[in-house]
Amino acid sequence: MAHSLRIARTAARSNPDEFWGDAAASLHWERRWSSVSPEQAVGPWFSGGVINTCFNALDRHVLSGFGKRNALIAISAMTDERVEYSYAELLLEVQRVAGAMQRSGISYGDRVVIYMPMVAQAVIAMLACARIGAVHSVVFGGFAARELAKRIDDAKPALILTASCGFEPGKTIEYLPLIREATHGRNVPVVVLQRKSAPRELDPQWQDWDDWMVEAPQVDCVSVEADAPLYILYTSGTTGKPKGIVRSNAGHAVALLWSMRHVFGVEDGDVFWAASDIGWVVGHSYIVYGPLLAGCTTVLFEGKPVGTPDCETLWRIVEDAQVNVLFTAPTAVRAIRREDADGRRLAKYPMSSLRALFLAGERTDPETLHWIETKLKRPIIDNWWQTELGWPALGRCLGLESEHQAPGSAGWPVPGFEAQVVDNLGQKCPPNTLGELVIRLPLPPGACHELWNGGDRYSAQYLERYPGFFASGDMAYLDARGCVFVMGRSDDLINVAGHRLSTGAMEAAVAETPGIVECAVVARRDGLKGQVPVAFAVKADDSATGVQQLENDVVQNVRQTIGAVAALKEVHIVSRLPKTRSGKILRKTLAEILDTGRYETPATIDDPEILQSISRDLAAGGRY
Ligand code: COA
Ligand code: AMP
Repeated sequence: MAHSLRIARTAARSNPDEFWGDAAASLHWERRWSSVSPEQAVGPWFSGGVINTCFNALDRHVLSGFGKRNALIAISAMTDERVEYSYAELLLEVQRVAGAMQRSGISYGDRVVIYMPMVAQAVIAMLACARIGAVHSVVFGGFAARELAKRIDDAKPALILTASCGFEPGKTIEYLPLIREATHGRNVPVVVLQRKSAPRELDPQWQDWDDWMVEAPQVDCVSVEADAPLYILYTSGTTGKPKGIVRSNAGHAVALLWSMRHVFGVEDGDVFWAASDIGWVVGHSYIVYGPLLAGCTTVLFEGKPVGTPDCETLWRIVEDAQVNVLFTAPTAVRAIRREDADGRRLAKYPMSSLRALFLAGERTDPETLHWIETKLKRPIIDNWWQTELGWPALGRCLGLESEHQAPGSAGWPVPGFEAQVVDNLGQKCPPNTLGELVIRLPLPPGACHELWNGGDRYSAQYLERYPGFFASGDMAYLDARGCVFVMGRSDDLINVAGHRLSTGAMEAAVAETPGIVECAVVARRDGLKGQVPVAFAVKADDSATGVQQLENDVVQNVRQTIGAVAALKEVHIVSRLPKTRSGKILRKTLAEILDTGRYETPATIDDPEILQSISRDLAAGGRY
């Protein structure tokens, strides 16, 4: 392990006040903190400090003479638009949107829901909220009206910002019917950005973005306490109710800036592209805040790694925008590989600017890693983290060392994080033994330390199971060198194309389908998306609906209630579900059959014949 990494890790552990205090000194503080480390085990950090995240992301660079540097390049493969904003231009836009918000009565602490596609105005809106101390809550465009409504009910926004449409390959996502349904009876003002190529008629109570912006004043930053929330980002939990992860201002800004320099190894002026979506934490941290805090140029991309128009899109943009560091999900690499197995199309692009590719959102399997490593001939860095943590906890620090990770592993703990793998009783597992991945408290700056409207839920969810540690919910093992291999979840969350989804929430949607009395949703391994959900559903005796129709109804109901992103396309109508004698559905065994075609009959099974018949039917249908 390289010297500088070891020093940083030791310093972060033994003298966190000095370590994070030094990191914080690069930022502008309206009032310096009175203490660096948190009093509570999880945060907040930098108590007593007063700061503005938007000032640090924009104004600070303009005031230092970098106003002409590109801050944002927004590229749409869907509309063929390309817009560049210098730091000065982006600041001006943000000041005006912040002004329009203030004029609409939005002030410190108010929540603003942003339900928008990948357009520059979405980034501008996020920064404008930060500027005036409002709290944004971005909702991913692939969620359906019901999921949006759940977030509206929890965050209670004073304003919703949206757009007329989003574009997905071969289809237009009409946002307004979803907004209409999600805001029905909720009386929240809505402002709509008209996409140039797809303007839509607005309901009388909604405001057109351009009208809203007319003569908008340019407003200054409202400085906030260190632990004032910057944003709420909802993520799937083990119940159908999404968890509102709260990110506070100061720790977030410090951690992201530190991570840009030391984890990603970028300098100000570099071009950083996270090919993700602003609806996910990767988008928040590394499309919007991280690169701008670090004075980099960030790239915002509307499109897919394949099919928009082809599998060269990523490489074309790297060349076009002279990207230095690229970040995406392994599923994107798998999608590209399917269409360019020999890498001939990738090889057309010299990409001399590109220094490294970071992958996260799911485990990078060794095969995918090997393929992209051979083709790209650059460091490929798997990094593990979660919405809760906000920035990479495991990985390789390009700014500190250059040692390779073991293929298939997420790497070593990043300075500030101390990881362990423990058994059910909280005892440390020996090397190469699977257990739950936990992180020693206190969590570093930037990690979430409360849930929105959460009460004791944070503690119950993350802290109580293993005293002194944060429970990640992931299963992992350490190798003899301490390199961490993250292998999957310990709960009912699954990872579909790098998207974290709850099978529990899907089960609720399946069970609501008329004609279905009971169901189980489990994950099937998938060569492209990592995992995909599969539903087993029991038809009601009195239902007259045919099996095929019922399967379609289930698929449609999940799309309607959760959204297309759930990607539930496989449904099996079964006579009964396999259960233990105490009535627990044998979900793991169902998943085992889907993945391998074999299963071990659990000793506690109630009726083995059900499993046998499901297994026979799946085999007959060629489903494993
Ligand atoms: N708005 C509306 N719908 C959306 C959406 C959005 N922002 N994003 C996805 N969807 C829809 C898709 O259109 C698709 O609908 P369909 O079932 O009608 O085809 C469904 O949700 C699933 O989308 P997706 O997961 O993107 O799968 P895909 O088959 O369209 O594409 C990949 C496969 C691998 C190309 C794609 O998943 C991808 O680019 N992954 C990158 C992963 C990523 O960015 N992860 C973020 C964490 S880093
Ligand atoms: P999210 O909160 O949506 O970012 O999802 C976080 C979850 O995705 C983690 O708890 C893991 O289950 C999974 N995940 C993210 N990155 C990785 C990775 N590099 N390796 C393995 N799993 C990952």
